[in-house]
Amino acid sequence: MSETFPIRTVHTVTDLRAVVSGWKADGETVGFVPTMGALHAGHISLVDIAKSRATKTVASVFVNPKQFAPGEDFGAYPRTLPDDARKLAEAGCNLLYAPNGPEMYPDGFASSVHVGGPSEGLETDFRPHFFDGVATVVTKLFAQVRPDIAVFGEKDYQQLLVVKRLAADLDLGVEIVPGPVMREADGLAMSSRNVYLSAADRQRAVRLNALLFACAEALETGERIADTLKTARIVAESAFDLVDYVEVRCADTLAALPGPVLDRPARVLAAVKLGTTRLIDNVAANPV
Ligand code: PAF
Repeated sequence: MSETFPIRTVHTVTDLRAVVSGWKADGETVGFVPTMGALHAGHISLVDIAKSRATKTVASVFVNPKQFAPGEDFGAYPRTLPDDARKLAEAGCNLLYAPNGPEMYPDGFASSVHVGGPSEGLETDFRPHFFDGVATVVTKLFAQVRPDIAVFGEKDYQQLLVVKRLAADLDLGVEIVPGPVMREADGLAMSSRNVYLSAADRQRAVRLNALLFACAEALETGERIADTLKTARIVAESAFDLVDYVEVRCADTLAALPGPVLDRPARVLAAVKLGTTRLIDNVAANPV
């Protein structure tokens, strides 16, 4: 237990289990929000959802090395634990779990969790290591916290579906609850990585959500999917430094849509780069 944080904080699995077991013995239910820290209003909205669905709430802060490839921003990723602790305390979260690297991955750690299905394509085409890293750490966090529900943001829509698949396939006994994308006043999806954007790139970044909402509107008014995506690609390539993907997929599986036009709930998803900063975002598109 740490004296230095304005919220009850544990750093080891043993201390975490002591707190959570005590709660469970008292009949409490546990809501969990896993994070990598650098918390913003989007994370706090997930804590609010957890609080509305369980009697006790745990948030974790752990920058998971297994979901970064060599050359990605693991070293530079913002680490703001005292500030995160203050925000969680203000949000009424009951416990902060902040393990260090060896606590999570002791010497000799040799396991990896792979989820198929929704992990295929999109992010995996550009970050092939990513979902194995996420699935491995999320499986461990669920085993450590043993929550009744866990909240994941729709901002990382593919991650949300991968974690749902993981929890269902491995009978993890945790309900995965989605939280809507939180946006800045100009529409940019909140992300811990937005701090990397230069002032000029921050101005350009707003074009990503504008493009996605324009795609959703076009699809909802019956435009052919292929035409929408063709235009979107041209717009994205002129607006951003690199376009990894702009795609329309089934909302519940991320499979390609069968028809020429929108005939079921879908998601328009994109990943682009502004300078060295990679942004992802997605919006819903529903047949009218
Ligand atoms: O979305 C995130 O912040 C991370 O991928 C998660 C789920 C905390 C796993 O490290």
